[in-house]
Amino acid sequence: MSILPPTKENIQFAADALREGKLIGLPTETVYGIAAVATNRSAVLSTFDLKGRPAENPLIVHVASMSQVEPLVASIPDSAKNLMAAFWPGPLTIILPKSSLVPDEVTASLQTVAIRMPNHPVARAIIEATNAPLSAPSANRFMSLSPTRAENLAPEIVAGLACVIDGGDCTFGLESTVIDCSDPLQCAILRPGAITRAQIAEVVGSLSLPGTTERRSPGNYRRHYSPRTPLRTVDSLGPNESGIVLDRPSGAHQIQLPNDPVGYGALLYSTLHNLDQLGLTEILVESPPTTPEWEAVWDRIRKAQG
Ligand code: TXA
Ligand code: MG
Repeated sequence: MSILPPTKENIQFAADALREGKLIGLPTETVYGIAAVATNRSAVLSTFDLKGRPAENPLIVHVASMSQVEPLVASIPDSAKNLMAAFWPGPLTIILPKSSLVPDEVTASLQTVAIRMPNHPVARAIIEATNAPLSAPSANRFMSLSPTRAENLAPEIVAGLACVIDGGDCTFGLESTVIDCSDPLQCAILRPGAITRAQIAEVVGSLSLPGTTERRSPGNYRRHYSPRTPLRTVDSLGPNESGIVLDRPSGAHQIQLPNDPVGYGALLYSTLHNLDQLGLTEILVESPPTTPEWEAVWDRIRKAQG
């Protein structure tokens, strides 16, 4: 198996592998995914095996055009149409009532399907060359950190893939925002992400309040996205402590991340991945601000903390 540069030939190789029912490593603007043709039940099932993911946790279907969306859904409420117009292609996943074309294996037998149109040019080229919608969960083993660069995919994941197409570092670095629009009267954010709650509220108006939607997303676990090393948030790090700081580092194993949520989010997973390789007893994270723009970063820090 190999990590391949995103040449035309390699994109065609990945598309052919997908059409044969194999899995590939897919770069997106959020995190790397494990792609399969979404209508191929056995390929979808092998995605769950490779991740060690419980079957009750549904997958996101990735498309490159609106004409690929329509056959997958029973209806598209106006709220969802407006969100698509505002944020697609991009890091927003929209949950809609599903059509019979979408296998139960993808949706964990829910009557809804999660759809996202990525804006990463390589992801789009692979979907177009395959000419099929692709299911793609993040390319991590269940509960571990999502990879934001090709070389951070775990060897046991890579072993199950026909190839990984290297699309470089993911620009957002946190998973997409997931919004449930299957109830046309009330959208609800199920997972905070790159597109903020404020940006979404500007388009759809009222949203269900944060904290009231946990039960609607089967994939929401308190611990998730974790390094193997235990992680704890603190007000500030002492000189010999290891982890992530916002100001200038004062120790050998301190890594400074930008004091803005977009720059911080882009580097969080790769930084945790690097710290996780050092054999530390604990990773300390200096608490970032708690203002609303930091919601997605805080969600991932809490889930890494368990
Ligand atoms: O940024 C992303 O979204 C990445 C890249 C690869 O596109 N994908 C990703 O997939 O994060 P995954 O499988 O790791 O997370 C999908 C989330 C899960 O929390 C799952 O429960 C939720 O989306 N989800 C999927 N379908 C759903 C549905 N029908 N109803 C509610 N939640 C759903
Ligand atoms: Mg994931």
